[in-house]
Amino acid sequence: MESEMDIRTARDLLAWQIELGATEAIGDTPVNRYEAPEKLAKPKTAQPAAPTPSDAADPLAEARAAASSAADLNALRDALAAYEHCDLKRGARNLVFSDGHPQARVMIIGEAPGRDEDLQAKPFVGRAGQLLDRMLAAIGMDRATDAPETAVYITNVLPWRPPQNRDPKPEEIAMMLPFVERHVQLIDPACVVLMGNISCQAGLGKRGITRLRGAWAEAYGKPALPMFHPAYLLRNPAAKREAWADLLELQARIEAST
Ligand code: URA
Repeated sequence: MESEMDIRTARDLLAWQIELGATEAIGDTPVNRYEAPEKLAKPKTAQPAAPTPSDAADPLAEARAAASSAADLNALRDALAAYEHCDLKRGARNLVFSDGHPQARVMIIGEAPGRDEDLQAKPFVGRAGQLLDRMLAAIGMDRATDAPETAVYITNVLPWRPPQNRDPKPEEIAMMLPFVERHVQLIDPACVVLMGNISCQAGLGKRGITRLRGAWAEAYGKPALPMFHPAYLLRNPAAKREAWADLLELQARIEAST
């Protein structure tokens, strides 16, 4: 029996084929287009595209208005869920908002959810996230603790997984920035950690993590420490030495401000 395939299944099948190396959309059986019914063969006259939400409004102005009127974390999550201008939303399974303790003194800002985070609707739960947990444990910090002094709060610049984990586009980062700014205001941490280049791009307006890492800067009105992203450390274990120095720097700052 022929059944209609939903868009998510169709997208997953397509992604699977691309992972297998498919580069052309060719069917299993050849089709003789000369025998196709005339109405299919004839090029259609172009119809004006239906207006999308992005045509109708200024996405950035809407993001600013939605974020600034969010009075608490639940309202901010609802505002993100209701925001229709970021196309990444349509390809993602879940909104990935945050994890950890809202009264934590350290707020970690990553880049965007990957496959595992998209499935579990939680930031940093895949291999990079597991490494992050081990790094934090090494300086006595923990996302799952109830004690605010040793807790961390974790979020990402983008709450939706980009397709094939591609880098977010500058306009996608720009749209999400008002939400990240409001998120930092609501958590009000003692400092933020900018994990990797995308997070530095969003928070500091510049990339170059190898140069930026380990030096305190200011982002979202808070002291901000750029660090190597744990996914980078998985690919470049030699950089763990610098990451360890940065973790100690973070620990010293937190202890000094207690
Ligand atoms: N990488 C990120 O930056 N964030 C996640 O949540 C997972 C991987």
